[in-house]
Amino acid sequence: MNIFESIHLLQDFLNNADNQKKTIGFVPTMGALHQGHISLIECSKRSTELTVASIFVNSTQFNNPSDLQNYPRTLDSDLQKLDQAGCDCVFVPTDMEMYPNAASRENIFDFGRLATVMEGAFRPGHFDGVGIIVSKLLEIVKPNKAFFGQKDFQQLTIIRYMTEKYLTHLPSEIIGCDIIRENDGLAMSSRNVRLSSEHRKNAPLIYQILSEIAQRKNNYSVKEIKQWVSDEINKNPYLEVEYFDIVENKSLNSIKQWNEENIKVACIAVFAGDVRLIDNFQL
Ligand code: PAJ
Repeated sequence: MNIFESIHLLQDFLNNADNQKKTIGFVPTMGALHQGHISLIECSKRSTELTVASIFVNSTQFNNPSDLQNYPRTLDSDLQKLDQAGCDCVFVPTDMEMYPNAASRENIFDFGRLATVMEGAFRPGHFDGVGIIVSKLLEIVKPNKAFFGQKDFQQLTIIRYMTEKYLTHLPSEIIGCDIIRENDGLAMSSRNVRLSSEHRKNAPLIYQILSEIAQRKNNYSVKEIKQWVSDEINKNPYLEVEYFDIVENKSLNSIKQWNEENIKVACIAVFAGDVRLIDNFQL
C-alpha cells in the first residue's frame, strides 16, 4: 500500500502511466478506523480499479476545540487495517499541506438550510468545515466515485448537493453506503470506545426504537411517533435525546404526514453520558 503525505506525490502516483487508465474510488476518513470505514473500502474495491483512502482529522469541522483534541488518533493500526482491506493508496496530509494559509480555511459554499437543521443546529459551522475539506480532497484526487456512509446521512446529503451544485467540473459520483452496526444494532462509530460499560449496554435502544417506527407508522401520526421516540429513549436513565426528526432525504424538510410521496429518514442524536451518538433509519 502506498502512503503519501504530500499532494503532489499523491498526484504523481495517480497520474503515472499504469494508474492513469484506472477508475479511481476514494474514501475520505478522519482515522480511528472500524468496520464501518472498511466497508467503504470494500464498496470502492468492488466498483473501481484503484482505491484511495485519506486520513485527516479536519480542524475546520470541529466547533469544539476539546472535541478536536480528544479525537482518537490511531494511525499505525489504521494503516494496517487499510492494507489488510486491500486499499491501494492512503493520503495522510499534515495540517500545513491542507491549510497552508488563512484563506485556505475559508468557506466558499452556501448550503442554506441543509447545513443549519439537525446536526447543523447543534454543531454550528460543522458542515462548512466538512464542505471545505471534502471539496479540497475531491479536487486533489479527482475520483470517479467517492464513498460516504449513510451513517452520517446529513453529511452525505450536503456532499451530494455540493458536488452537484459547485463541483460539476469533477468526474466524481457520490455513493452512499449502508450503515454498519454492531451485533446488537448500535451503529459503529469511532466514539463508541468512549462509552462506559453501562452506556454501551443501553445504547442499542436507539436503533431498536428507530427500527420500530416502520410498524407503528400505520397506527400513529408523525407527531405522535416523534413524541413516542423521544419519550422511549429518554425513559432510559443512560440516554438523552438531543434531537429527533423525520425528514425528506434531499431537502431535509421535516415531513408532516406519512402519505407524502418522498423518501423519509428518521434522524436522531442522543447523549449517552458525555458521548454524542447519531443514527438514522430510512422508513
Ligand atoms: P469519519 O467520521 O472518519 O467517517 C468517514 C466515513 O465513514 C464517512 O463517510 C462516514 O459516514 C463513514 N462511516 C462512519 N461510521 C460508519 C458506519 N457505522 N457505517 C458506515 N459508514 C460509516 O465523516 C467523516 O469522517 C468526515 O466528516 C470526513 C467526510 C472524512 C471529512 O472530514
